Amino acid sequence: MAFSKKAETPAGAVPKHVAIIMDGNGRWAKKRFLPRNAGHAQGSRVAEQICEDAWNLGIEYLTIYAFSTENWARPKDEVDALMKLLRKYMKDSIARSSKNNMRVHVIGDISALDEDLQESIRKLEEVSSVNTGLKFQVAINYGGRDEILRAAKAFATECANGTKKPEDLNEALFYSYFDTAGIPYPDLMIRTSGEMRTSNFLPWQLAYTEFYFTDVLWPDFNKKELQKAIAYYAGRDRRFGGVTEE
Ligand code: IPE
Ligand code: IPE
Ligand code: MG
Repeated sequence: MAFSKKAETPAGAVPKHVAIIMDGNGRWAKKRFLPRNAGHAQGSRVAEQICEDAWNLGIEYLTIYAFSTENWARPKDEVDALMKLLRKYMKDSIARSSKNNMRVHVIGDISALDEDLQESIRKLEEVSSVNTGLKFQVAINYGGRDEILRAAKAFATECANGTKKPEDLNEALFYSYFDTAGIPYPDLMIRTSGEMRTSNFLPWQLAYTEFYFTDVLWPDFNKKELQKAIAYYAGRDRRFGGVTEE
């Protein structure tokens, strides 16, 4: 798949950073009398395609929710199947990221993952770090509350050893301890499958983000649906607490 120039960018504002909660894999499979894992496999293919589409539409940063800190509560065979898919995804992405000029960064606490998966993630991040195209964040064992706690602990540790002082803390400094440090806050958050909640995804970063919910199940999501979300975004009035001038 070749990443073309940004010729398809529609008129109106294109969000710089889009975050997606890819939900509905299980229901997609159920509707087809397939095992839930078939929904995850299809969902993973859609995620690959959406990276290409996002870049071609002019999006610079894409962050997707692949596995939450709460998803360990699922049956063991589903967790195992998801980990297997992530393993394959990371391995395939090593070649794909070079071809697509995509920089991949995993957010979340990866220390809880199997050592070989951690190794693939590190390799993928290293190999793709030189790429200058889409900045792609994959959230694995990610929980927003966990991320905030880890940031607080890291800052507290530096206070305890004297490298920082509590009064140094401000929004920018605190954000520098986050997994998404250096990445602008998302402009648009998309959640598929009709659920209207954030399920612990980027609570700090989404404070002023526009939300777009669609009933489309993630394995059915495509470029057209992404364009609909972008069109919705283009029509929003982002006030950031201020007032819009007449
Ligand atoms: C999203 O699909 C994928 C993950 C959470 C890993 P689900 O597996 O949550 O699908 P539904 O919500 O049961 O349909
Ligand atoms: C959110 O979906 C997590 C991911 C998409 C990885 P869930 O399906 O786990 O969320 P809930 O349980 O419906 O809130
Ligand atoms: Mg779900």
